Amino acid sequence: MAALNIKIEEDKSLPEAKKYKILKAYGAVGERVKVSGWVHRLRSNKKVVFIVLRDGTGYLQCVLTGDLALAKQTLDLTLESTVTLYGTIINVPEGKTAPGNVELNVDYYEVVGLAPAGDEAFSNKIAEDTDPSILLDQRHLALRGETLSSVMKVRAAFLRAIRRVYEEEGLLEVTPPCMVQTQVEGGSTLFKLDYYGEEAYLTQSSQLYLETCLPSLGDVFCIQESFRAEKSHTRRHLSEYTHIEAELAFLTFEELLDHIETVIVNSVKYVLEDPVAGPIVKQLNPDFVAPAKPFMRLEYKDAITWLQEHDIKNEDGEDFKFGDDIAEAAERKMTDTIGVPILLTKFPVEIKSFYMPRCKDDNRVTESVDVLMPTVGEITGGSMRINSTDELMAGFEREGIDPKPYYWFIDQRKYGTSPHGGYGLGTERILAWLCNRFTVRDCSLYPRFSGRCKP
Ligand code: 4AD
Repeated sequence: MAALNIKIEEDKSLPEAKKYKILKAYGAVGERVKVSGWVHRLRSNKKVVFIVLRDGTGYLQCVLTGDLALAKQTLDLTLESTVTLYGTIINVPEGKTAPGNVELNVDYYEVVGLAPAGDEAFSNKIAEDTDPSILLDQRHLALRGETLSSVMKVRAAFLRAIRRVYEEEGLLEVTPPCMVQTQVEGGSTLFKLDYYGEEAYLTQSSQLYLETCLPSLGDVFCIQESFRAEKSHTRRHLSEYTHIEAELAFLTFEELLDHIETVIVNSVKYVLEDPVAGPIVKQLNPDFVAPAKPFMRLEYKDAITWLQEHDIKNEDGEDFKFGDDIAEAAERKMTDTIGVPILLTKFPVEIKSFYMPRCKDDNRVTESVDVLMPTVGEITGGSMRINSTDELMAGFEREGIDPKPYYWFIDQRKYGTSPHGGYGLGTERILAWLCNRFTVRDCSLYPRFSGRCKP
């Protein structure tokens, strides 16, 4: 095994290598390049060693031949080691495929950090059949996997897309606080904290703050973490999630519904057009059908009839009746059966929040909407907002909420009220739908849910 003693040295007579990230290197056919990254895959075939290099921007097939393939440095190489490879980018031979349709013909390389072999080897930490809770403990390593990192790329593209849509629709981005002293969506899911001796909470929704921005900034949106102490372990509930919320002034309920459709349709369209995220969505979700306007509209009362007709029971195992909350299981059954995006509207006052106005034509229900998508169910919840002080006070009373801490919110009705409405969109939920993930946990970088706050 004399070959093991081969010393790997750069041939200084070669043209100087230009530094590239992998995505850009795809376009550098014929050039001598220098690319750094992590050894994603490693295999040898007689006297040729193949490395699939990963740097976050893409994957690059790299080929080591001759002395390079035989050297001890190469034989010792392990998955997840970091290397800097030098060589020439060439088109892959006819009939073969590789990311970017190119490969790197390596002429020299350096090891930056050698990852362990043996018991501590990466492949012993993370494998496809590793128990999900171990994968969550090892999230920092699991994120290196192709599927999880692909979802994170779609996530980034989606957040880019949604900002683009809001720019087009004339909404301004603001950053409300996360530490607050008011609730928005019910006391039972509040995370309490000791704020210099006063009781405070992690925000459940930035809605009330967005409402206060309307008079000064016009229509606004935010992309902010929301926190919910959800007790139940469901596949679509997180304790911390990225909440996209918008608030618009001087609009009708119909205009709000139309705006929500536009935002969803256009943001999805931009993701599908994205050169990185578009192909990922196709790969993860080959049957995905881009939504088109108008969405199916279904009033709550008609949904109750639909559920009765389809013999779907409520949470107590009984026939649905007007006033019942349509909980997750029934909602998903209905959405999956109907199979298209639905705007479910006009929920009863009793099952919705204190700030929602009643419909003029039916006093029992509110100008409220949930957007339901097949496979996930609710991805968006929104409504018009009560714009009279008296009616709002009645809402506080009905829900048993002390209005005092809300003086700043109530003032919106006092100093120039306006018809207005808004909504919140769960980033992880829309991603689960877009990327065909079973749970929203796969769509969050470091998911938080009851029992999980690490790493
Ligand atoms: O329906 P929700 O509770 O509505 C609000 O918070 C309103 N104040 C928003 C507004 O009008 N500005 O939540 C909105 C969306 C849901 O449709 C869902 O997509 C997501 O937030 N969501 C969650 N996502 C993950 N984990 C949880 N625990 C979630 N709770 C709500």
